[in-house]
Amino acid sequence: MKADDVKVIGVCGAGTMGAGIAQQAAISGYEVTVLDVDDAAWTRGLGIITKGLDRMLAREKITQGQKDAVLARISYTTDAAGLAVADYVIEAVFEEYEVKKELFGRLESSCRPEVVFATNTSSISITEIAAATARPDRVVGMHFFNPVPVMKLVEVIPALQTAPETVELATELTGRLGKTAVACQDTPGFVVNRILIPMMIDAARVFEAGVASAEDIDTAMKLGANLPMGPLELMDFTGVDIAYHVGNVLYEYTKEQRFSPPTIMRKMIKAGHLGRKTGKGFYDYAGKA
Ligand SMILES: NC(=O)c1ccc[n+]([C@@H]2O[C@H](COP(=O)([O-])OP(=O)(O)OC[C@H]3O[C@@H](n4cnc5c(N)ncnc54)[C@H](O)[C@@H]3O)[C@@H](O)[C@H]2O)c1
Repeated sequence: MKADDVKVIGVCGAGTMGAGIAQQAAISGYEVTVLDVDDAAWTRGLGIITKGLDRMLAREKITQGQKDAVLARISYTTDAAGLAVADYVIEAVFEEYEVKKELFGRLESSCRPEVVFATNTSSISITEIAAATARPDRVVGMHFFNPVPVMKLVEVIPALQTAPETVELATELTGRLGKTAVACQDTPGFVVNRILIPMMIDAARVFEAGVASAEDIDTAMKLGANLPMGPLELMDFTGVDIAYHVGNVLYEYTKEQRFSPPTIMRKMIKAGHLGRKTGKGFYDYAGKA
């Protein structure tokens, strides 16, 4: 399959990432069919997409006509058979190996044999996912970043079994989706999280040690390292619980201390201080939109 042959993209999961990927694919001119478990999930997913498009409309990045055309290109199904029309599949369901394995098992009989299964997993080995399918040479990691319509990077990760044509197609498609592809080995954290998660965790350690306030740590890193966002602000944005979980997953794989989250993060999670989503993390968001 060549990139020119891809007209319909199947997206599995209508959550944060799936909705973003569906929006981006439809903006890029693809027909999109989204698969999720029930109508409630789709209502949420469509809400994310509509909000994303409304934001673009407000910033005059698209017109009302373009917004309507994008929405008209996106359809939805709860049945794996609905992805029979897909020329390429991108999976963004829950981060659980068994869930992904079961889903790809169902897709195997619905999707044509030449169709590539791309997975957006952040922490599961692509090689392990590929091994669970009957088409391991056509499985590849495509790791998008949140929010998908804004973030320009996709890490393209071949499994040990992935055919070079599959990597080429994923890379070409990434470009056609308006993103930049970075080739990356199938290792825990790939490139970005392998560097970013320890940085955020280290910032939490510096905070825990009382070296400086959260504001001063972020100001130091923004002005001193020229980062657009401080590491603690970023952790509040990502979710302290997410950074904690990913850190622990990376630690389990590597046993490298730099991935192991400090006690302060565990305490914050217990207290419900998860960041922006709960109104409090390293910063207080009470009363802020
Ligand atoms: N959130 C992020 O910042 C981020 C970034 C990069 C990659 N990822 C990865 O993307 C994937 C999705 O993450 P998310 O944050 O969008 O999760 P999410 O919880 O927001 O959405 C997951 C969606 O998958 C659906 N789903 C679950 N099981 C399904 C099944 N069997 N068939 C079809 N749909 C199913 C759920 O109903 C839900 O709508 C994960 O693998 C995650 O590791 C997340």
